[in-house]
Amino acid sequence: MQAFEIVGGNRLRGSLTIGGSKNAALPIMAACLMCEGESVLHNVPDLADVRQLMVLLGRLGVVCERDDSGAMHIRVEDEMNTHAEYELVSKMRASVCVMGPLLGKRRCAQVSMPGGCAIGDRPIDLHVRGLEALGAESELAYGDVVLKTKKLKGSEIFLGGPFGSSVTATANVMMAATMAEGRTIIASAACEPEVVDLANFLNACGAQIKGQGTPQITIDGVKSLQGTEHTIIPDRIEAGTFLVASAITNGDLKLENARLDHLLAAVEQLRQVGVIIERTEKGMEVSSSRRLEPVKITTQPFPGFPTDLQAQTMALLCLADGNSVITEKIFPDRFLHVAELNRMGARLRKEGPTVIIEGVKRLIGAPVMASDLRASAALVLAGLIAKGKTRVHRIYHIDRGYERIEEKLQSVGANIKRVND
Ligand code: UD1
Repeated sequence: MQAFEIVGGNRLRGSLTIGGSKNAALPIMAACLMCEGESVLHNVPDLADVRQLMVLLGRLGVVCERDDSGAMHIRVEDEMNTHAEYELVSKMRASVCVMGPLLGKRRCAQVSMPGGCAIGDRPIDLHVRGLEALGAESELAYGDVVLKTKKLKGSEIFLGGPFGSSVTATANVMMAATMAEGRTIIASAACEPEVVDLANFLNACGAQIKGQGTPQITIDGVKSLQGTEHTIIPDRIEAGTFLVASAITNGDLKLENARLDHLLAAVEQLRQVGVIIERTEKGMEVSSSRRLEPVKITTQPFPGFPTDLQAQTMALLCLADGNSVITEKIFPDRFLHVAELNRMGARLRKEGPTVIIEGVKRLIGAPVMASDLRASAALVLAGLIAKGKTRVHRIYHIDRGYERIEEKLQSVGANIKRVND
């Protein structure tokens, strides 16, 4: 296994280019399963999760190849297999996004139940409920959800759950509905930019989707989809992570290919902390005042503060001048980084879905354990400013969602290296 070794204290300065969005690329790659002919996707990040989905799609008869420019070419060669097996789904929860396309195009989807992960339970009841509303019959067989239908029919579907809308359930139902007969209306749809990117891709393939980016999405079913060329949106979570990296080191970074309009809630909160963020022609520029103000943050579905930036922002608030409060409303157990940050001298107290953060003057390097993707990023950020050496173990989590993060951080002055554990 590999680890990151970080010597804290360097101010980050310079310019970074943000890669394509992981959470937009995964469902769009899965959607190609429904297309006739070839699709060409630009700006697909080279990440462990993307490579994992390429393997799964390969098993489902979908050939995914990168050309010399990095563009991904995807075409369906064989439609026989409809089974996403445990061995693959258990490695990456987002594999569940093949469920809607398989059902839409092949009228059958057998997908292993993804189970929980480090950040909580993560059920898929909304996915199944939404697909059943389109006319699928479902059963559970040896840990797999098996969905079958002779014909999908448009329907009105409420997709809200106990924690609000669901991003991948919206994606799955929207994808299946593009191939249903008649009109589908999804109420309480997720408004995330990644859902909008997927809808835009599907529309370019010939789908008839309206309302993406709002809580009500209307889909008029079509008979077929034709592969197309599409550029994946920039990764707002990678951009947000580098905003915090700059802020925590009192640095000055230019982020290119970053979209401020996808990060308004986080930008607003960081500005309240005292981080200076300006829009530039190509993205944004971030610099910091020396004093960090404490704030109260609650994670919410888009356009609210993203749960995927909660851990990283907590690392920053450890150094604020006073007490901050973070409440997690999407994944109430997503706090495995708390104990690790405390090992670095943070003063964090968890009370249910809330963490109270008593600001300290400095963090101190320590060996720490990455537990999930964004928690790992938070530990790297803490290491960038901690006194002395920090070793972040189990960084395979971070490789799932950040492309060459250590090289990007090195290029703007961080002292970080990848080592064998
Ligand atoms: C997606 C993102 C993930 C992000 C999350 C929330 C991808 C590949 N991943 O995950 O990075 O952290 O959105 O922004 O895009 N829920 C149910 N039943 C369901 C589905 C979800 O109760 O059937 C609950 C979840 O447990 C959670 C909430 O709904 O509390 C939101 O989860 P959801 O939006 O579905 O997360 P993902 O799509 O899995």
